[in-house]
Amino acid sequence: MSAVEGARNIVLGGLMGTGKTTIARRLAITLGRPWLDTDTRVEQDLGVSVAELFARDGEQAFREREATVVRDAAAAAGGVISLGGGVLLDPANVAQLRASGVIVLLTGDAAELARRAARRGLQHRPLLADVEPEQLSGRLAELAEQRRERYEAAADHVEDTTDGRSPEQVAAAIIAWAAERGDVLSSEERKRVAA
Ligand code: S3P
Repeated sequence: MSAVEGARNIVLGGLMGTGKTTIARRLAITLGRPWLDTDTRVEQDLGVSVAELFARDGEQAFREREATVVRDAAAAAGGVISLGGGVLLDPANVAQLRASGVIVLLTGDAAELARRAARRGLQHRPLLADVEPEQLSGRLAELAEQRRERYEAAADHVEDTTDGRSPEQVAAAIIAWAAERGDVLSSEERKRVAA
């Protein structure tokens, strides 16, 4: 990922189904930034899907590879990074990401997150693969509760993605927050956003 000078990474974290990938893509297009998705990078590096990696080598192997991807992504600045939902649970990942970026936590109502996750197919999501459809919302609410403290401790900013706004509107809100903060956008990006 090549860097945009004078700009911090915008890093999107949060639970499955919060729209990290969709919103990251939108941010990257609007700001003209490079975009890296940690799950996609793990899959490209190893030539297997995240689900296959979990099944073949176990979650720990996935987490180790994910941490390597995070370290490499955080070494550059000026990009957009979308994270797998577990990345912010590891304080070492958080420290690296914060050194060169700001972390935006995406949240949402568990029932809506469950609908989105089900729509896209649970076979891609190893942590939900054996959950019955009627238990999906409860499982996501449970995960949200287990992760809440670490997610919130990592976050510089929080956006609810199930309050009726479109991904474009959430992306615009993140850009407005970033512009306000002062150290996230390059001067070029400021001009582009203001135009
Ligand atoms: C995980 C989320 C997934 C993927 C892996 C583990 C998690 O990413 O990294 O299945 O622990 O929440 P998404 O959040 O993009 O689905």
